[in-house]
Amino acid sequence: MKDDAKQTIYLKDYKPFAYVVEDVHLTFALHPTATRVVSRIQFAPTETADGVMFLHGEDLTLISAAIDGEPASYRKVSGGIEVDVPDGPFTWQAEVEISPSTNTALEGLYMSSGMYCTQCEAEGFRKITYYPDRPDVMAPFTVRIESDMPVLLSNGNPQASGDGWAEWHDPWPKPAYLFALVAGELVNHAGQFTTMSGKDVELNIWVRPADINKCEFGMGALIRSMKWDEEVYGREYDLDVFNIVAVDDFNMGAMENKGLNIFNSSCVLASPETSTDANFERIEAIIAHEYFHNWTGNRITCRDWFQLCLKEGLTVFRDQTFTGDMRSHAVKRIDDVITLRARQFREDQGPLAHPVRPESFVEINNFYTVTVYEKGAEVIGMLKRLVGDAAYKKALNLYFDRHDGDAATIEDWLKVFEDVTGRDLSQFKLWYSQAGTPHLHVTDSYDNGTYSLTLRQSHKPSPNQTDKQPMVIPVAVGLLSPNGDEVVPTQVLELTEVEQTFTFDGLASKPIPSILRDFSAPVVLHQDQSDADREFLLANDTDPFNKWESGRMLARDTLLDMIENDAAPNANYLAALDRALNDETTDPAFRALLLALPTIDDLSQEIASKGGTPDPTAIYDARRALRGAIARHCGDTLTSLYKTHQVTGAYVPDAETGGKRALTNAALSLISLLDNGDTARTQYAAADNMTQELAALSALIQIGAAETELADFADRWKDDRLVMDKWFSLQTALCEPQDAAKIADTLTKHPDFDWKNPNRFRSLFGGLISNTAGFHAADGSAYILLTDWLIKLDAANPQTAARVSSAFDTWTRYDEGRKLIIKTQLDRILATEGISPDMAEMVGRMAK
Ligand code: ARG
Ligand code: ZN
Repeated sequence: MKDDAKQTIYLKDYKPFAYVVEDVHLTFALHPTATRVVSRIQFAPTETADGVMFLHGEDLTLISAAIDGEPASYRKVSGGIEVDVPDGPFTWQAEVEISPSTNTALEGLYMSSGMYCTQCEAEGFRKITYYPDRPDVMAPFTVRIESDMPVLLSNGNPQASGDGWAEWHDPWPKPAYLFALVAGELVNHAGQFTTMSGKDVELNIWVRPADINKCEFGMGALIRSMKWDEEVYGREYDLDVFNIVAVDDFNMGAMENKGLNIFNSSCVLASPETSTDANFERIEAIIAHEYFHNWTGNRITCRDWFQLCLKEGLTVFRDQTFTGDMRSHAVKRIDDVITLRARQFREDQGPLAHPVRPESFVEINNFYTVTVYEKGAEVIGMLKRLVGDAAYKKALNLYFDRHDGDAATIEDWLKVFEDVTGRDLSQFKLWYSQAGTPHLHVTDSYDNGTYSLTLRQSHKPSPNQTDKQPMVIPVAVGLLSPNGDEVVPTQVLELTEVEQTFTFDGLASKPIPSILRDFSAPVVLHQDQSDADREFLLANDTDPFNKWESGRMLARDTLLDMIENDAAPNANYLAALDRALNDETTDPAFRALLLALPTIDDLSQEIASKGGTPDPTAIYDARRALRGAIARHCGDTLTSLYKTHQVTGAYVPDAETGGKRALTNAALSLISLLDNGDTARTQYAAADNMTQELAALSALIQIGAAETELADFADRWKDDRLVMDKWFSLQTALCEPQDAAKIADTLTKHPDFDWKNPNRFRSLFGGLISNTAGFHAADGSAYILLTDWLIKLDAANPQTAARVSSAFDTWTRYDEGRKLIIKTQLDRILATEGISPDMAEMVGRMAK
């Protein structure tokens, strides 16, 4: 039964469930098209119970339902059933039938490459059986699986097994969204961990036999994560086993099911031959993220889905810190800010903007966003900066003590900080409720030894939010004297009013300010900075983020000048960049980041926020011209860096050699503009790892000279799905804009374009969307192609289709011609018969 009339749900309407679930027992008789699920659930009424209990259920065939052994009296209603229940405790027993092999939405129980697996967050459990499918209902689960598959897994600890069956018991009360089941012909890469209190934990990564050689790195990352959470947060693992399973068809990255994490295979499988440095780093971060959820998400979960950032923001913050500890804090921070601006600031600027804690939704899957995750993590980082490391640690300990076993709220979270520090966090709480990116304006003056900084905040309206209050903005500031010495080390100024002035006394001369160090708040900074000050900070700032940012701002402004005024590339910038690239005291990974120019989308964001109309083609041309100018001006430096920083010996996915590869490969991409790809072709032929191979291939695609290598690559990797995903995405992402839609269309006809596989769909179309000038080709060809495919995918997999549709969320920035075509596409989607509620919500919000 499809639920057509999906209602808008509001945070303000939250009501607790009127029954307690004391125990859940599930038996699965697995079958591709006719799986039987028998549930036996102990319920007890609370004071608010009124004799009628609602259970969620979707796409279920109900075979039988009984209460205390007698046939139950129930009515099917929208989204589930209403059951007449007794006044006291009772046992509900039901049998339903479901069809995993036809479940293309990949939510609930489904099949992927012949194995059974589940995805229940956020509301997938209701597609498995009738249940109060809400995060504030927590219970211990016992699960029996009957199947002739050799490996049968569920949450918790293994309890008993025999020929064709296995039983698992999870003693930790959990919400249904953390339920998981896997059955398949799998093999395991085993590991072991001894916890800080001396308990042995058996670790496994389960994969298809062909992937067994891609598990070692993931296992190491898991062990590092377990150790880190003990050392940094004092959190110990709490079951006898921890299982990870790799699944090829998965809507998201991975899922933290209790004791049985399920991963998109792209987020766990790694080998030097098939994965890049970036893949290794991402895999390590996601394994850590899911593992960290065991405490921030599972032991303490969310009261309702509006509180999603409670677990996601905090867990992203934790995994970011972990990656910084494992690799480099400076590089990680810069990477994270690049992503935040590219994706979250973009979301904030458009029609999909929403607060970190949204107040309403139709389909919660549409709110697993960069705002909830990444801005949610920024909010935690600001809180930590404001209260200090020691108080943060105390507050976290109190949070774990006070709320272990709870389904908690943002109010609960902030209360522990208030109790520990005595601070009033009511103004800080605006970060959870006010959407949009604040703007921070800085002016300064110097008079007779005193330096004054005036900070002012302003806020643009967001959908449904026009009146905004001033927020608490932690602004980390340091001051340098003109000779390069740091005269005032980093301190955090707290801007709480619309405008405030902060003064610094006893300065012998006017200092050069370094403002918003470490990107201490997710805001857009406006300051009048001369090229000279930027060059000075690029050379001298002790804060690595602002050192990088100074170079970034020089690059941005010369690009804007080239776009808007047809100017030539700024010679001062080219000279400063060349000097910075030659600074052997800085990390090669940092220098690689200096070569990453603002993207087309970054620049259109900037132009649009000043009221202009970005022209993607003109921005593309300017970027290309600047890249050419850098290649010519810094040619000798790039060639020499390329030679002196080559890594020799066996490939290791660590930060040190990865940084060198990042630098040489950033250089390679520019060198290729001058040497017709000779260096790249040589590197491609000699490469013994995917990082080097892919960088060379990318450089060749970008100069339109990759035909031979693309064919060779496809031939060698045709049997490796994850590598072939790269082959699809590189072509649509890096081709000339005017060819992008055509190339994408041709690739959709390739026999390996398995569009129902979310990774493959996202490779091809994600590549196209990231090719900003290609996606926004003025003739609308890419808009139309994407829309055709979104409509097709929506019928099979609404969740992924709805997510990809957010590609259109910048549409109001553009000129009338582009706007008209996009609006026509949005309307076409909305007018499609049977469009999913997921898609209707997303497109409806964008088309408004
Ligand atoms: N909790 C998972 C994570 O952050 C994400 C799962 C979301 N899945 C979904 N269908 N919305 O790792
Ligand atoms: Zn998460």
